[in-house]
Amino acid sequence: MLDGKKTIFSGMQATGNLTLGNYLGALTNWVDLADDYNCYYCVVDEHAITVRQDPTALRQNARKVLMIYIAAGLDPEKCCIYYQSHVSAHAELGWILGCYTYMGELSRMTQFKDKSAKHADNINAGLFTYPVLMAADILLYQSDLVPVGSDQKQHLELARDIAIRFNNIYGDVFTIPEGYIPKAGARIMSLQDPTKKMSKSDENENATIHILDKPDDIIRKFKRAVTDSVGIIQYTDDQPGIRNLIDIYTACTGKTVDETVREFDGKGYGDFKMAVGEVVVDKLAPIQARYDELAKDKAYVDSIIKNNAEKASYFANKTLRKVQKKIGYPERIR
Ligand code: TRP
Repeated sequence: MLDGKKTIFSGMQATGNLTLGNYLGALTNWVDLADDYNCYYCVVDEHAITVRQDPTALRQNARKVLMIYIAAGLDPEKCCIYYQSHVSAHAELGWILGCYTYMGELSRMTQFKDKSAKHADNINAGLFTYPVLMAADILLYQSDLVPVGSDQKQHLELARDIAIRFNNIYGDVFTIPEGYIPKAGARIMSLQDPTKKMSKSDENENATIHILDKPDDIIRKFKRAVTDSVGIIQYTDDQPGIRNLIDIYTACTGKTVDETVREFDGKGYGDFKMAVGEVVVDKLAPIQARYDELAKDKAYVDSIIKNNAEKASYFANKTLRKVQKKIGYPERIR
C-alpha cells in the first residue's frame, strides 16, 4: 500500500485497434478507479508476441494503445501508464514464477486451448506460459485489485494460486490479488453476431466499432447492426442484438435500461440504431480529439513513456530483488 491507497494493475494487448468494447467494458472502469487507487496500466507488448506480429505494426499499435489510455481520461501523471517491455523485471519474474507453475495448470487454460486451435502453425512455448508472465505483471506491483474481462478470470485465479504457493514456501512476499470483473452489461458484443464478444481481430469490419473510428463509419456500422424479426425494443436474452444496442446506449448515456426501453417504445429498429450510433459518436468525440492532440505532441508522450517506465521499474525491482533473495540467488556486489 502506497499513500494509504491500494494498488491496481491491469493491461491490454498492444495489438489491433482498441474497440468500443475495450472502452466501455474496461477503460471507463479504469478511469473510475483511478482516483481511489494507486494504478499501473500497462501496454502488454510482451504478451503480444505470443502470436506473430509485424514489427512496425506492433510498435505503432503499442503507442496507439498508450495514447488511447491517456485520451480516455487516465492522467499519466497519476497513473503509471507504460510499456511492459520497458520494465525488464516482468520477464525476469516471469522466468522465476514459471518454475513455480505446473504444466498441468497451464494445460487447463482455455485461452491456450483456443489460441492453439486458432494458430495451429505456431503453438509456441510463450503461448503456453502466457499466464505466468501475466502473474508476474500483477505480482510485481503487489497489486490488490485487477480489473479484467471475464475471459481473463482463469488467468487471474492462476496468478493467485502461484502467489499463494510462493508465499507458503517463502513467507509473505506477494500480495494476493483480487479480480474485479465488470458486470454483464459492460460486455459489449459484436454488431454482426451479438452472441460473440466484440473483438478487435474480427474479420468482418462491420462487427466492431474502434475507438478511433470516424463518425460516418460508426453510424454506418450501427445501421448495419444485426437485430431480429421481433420488432419490439425490449431487453431480453431472446433478442441479443437489441439487448447489446441497449447496453451500448445505456453505457454511453448513463440512462437505465428501463428509461431506454420507455424512450424507444413504439419506435422502429432503424431509428433506434441511428440513436445508438449518435450517442457513440458523441461519447468518442472528445477522446478522439484528445488523441489527435497527443499524436501531435511527440515530446510530451515520449516524456510520459520515459518517466513512467522509470517509476514502474523502481517499484517492480523492489519486489524482484526480494524474490531473488528469498529463492537464493547470489547477492549483488555493489
Ligand atoms: N491477458 C490480458 C488480456 O488479454 C492482458 C494482460 C496481461 C493483463 N497482463 C495482465 C490484464 C495483467 C490484467 C493484469 O486481456
